[in-house]
Amino acid sequence: MVVTGASSGIGAATVRAFRTEGWEVLGVARREDRLRALAAETGAEVFAADLTKQDDVDALRDHVAATGGIHALVNNAGGARGLESVEESSLEDWAWMYEINVLGTKRVISALLPLLRQGASETGHADILVVTSIAGLTAYPGGGGYNAAKFAEHALTEVLRLELNGEPIRVVEVAPGMVATEEFSLVRFGGDKERRDAVYEDVPEPLSAEDIAETIVHALTLPRHVDLDLIVVKPVAQAAPYRLHKGALTVRG
Ligand SMILES: NC(=O)c1ccc[n+]([C@@H]2O[C@H](COP(=O)([O-])OP(=O)(O)OC[C@H]3O[C@@H](n4cnc5c(N)ncnc54)[C@H](OP(=O)(O)O)[C@@H]3O)[C@@H](O)[C@H]2O)c1
Repeated sequence: MVVTGASSGIGAATVRAFRTEGWEVLGVARREDRLRALAAETGAEVFAADLTKQDDVDALRDHVAATGGIHALVNNAGGARGLESVEESSLEDWAWMYEINVLGTKRVISALLPLLRQGASETGHADILVVTSIAGLTAYPGGGGYNAAKFAEHALTEVLRLELNGEPIRVVEVAPGMVATEEFSLVRFGGDKERRDAVYEDVPEPLSAEDIAETIVHALTLPRHVDLDLIVVKPVAQAAPYRLHKGALTVRG
């Protein structure tokens, strides 16, 4: 299987979880040092690629084809930049988010779908799982560019499931709420650690990368005819992107 965004957070946890299950995994991201450390730790194969560059994605496709093909893709690479209003936010941030979350996903799917089809014709089945976000389903103030990108990624995943209907290829979408990964909010706030920490402060048990990895493993190890089309997974403390409880959860009444 191929897991994108494997150098940190949800992707790295997903690689670890599938390796524990005994799957052959190819982890993909830009940072080679982190990928190498993950390979040494888990025995996964790794491939450094910038998924916003067509040449890198072509090289990934060629590498996968030359090393035995694939039966599953976890398309997870992505992220957010900024929390400013639609009016104030920067076009550069919007372009960055559209490039990796939407066009990166489209690029990877276009490149790997023929290989997934080949895998499916050998074994009778293949899987595509896309990690979107609750930001792809519900708008929130300051969400602007991230909402727009994740709504688009959600839409392309729905379109893909319609287009692949009739083929033995399962299309699953996992839409997480707040996951306290090390880097997601750091990237969002341009490396500002204080702003990153404030996001999770006093939130009772935000999700972890491992929670999402476990969800992904569950979805892809169910019997092949069972498609959890859209899995929305949030911490109990989060009722919506804009409705997050801080402080202990207490029983009322
Ligand atoms: N954390 C959350 O609260 C949350 C909630 C809902 C959805 N999500 C989504 O879940 C996914 C993973 O998030 P995370 O929390 O694990 O964040 P993260 O730790 O920042 O991971 C993002 C991953 O994407 C990779 N990536 C970014 N740009 C790339 C590019 N141009 N080419 C290749 N790889 C690239 C990064 O690796 P390199 O920098 O090494 O390339 C990294 O491995 C994202 O799609 C995110 O939008 C996260």
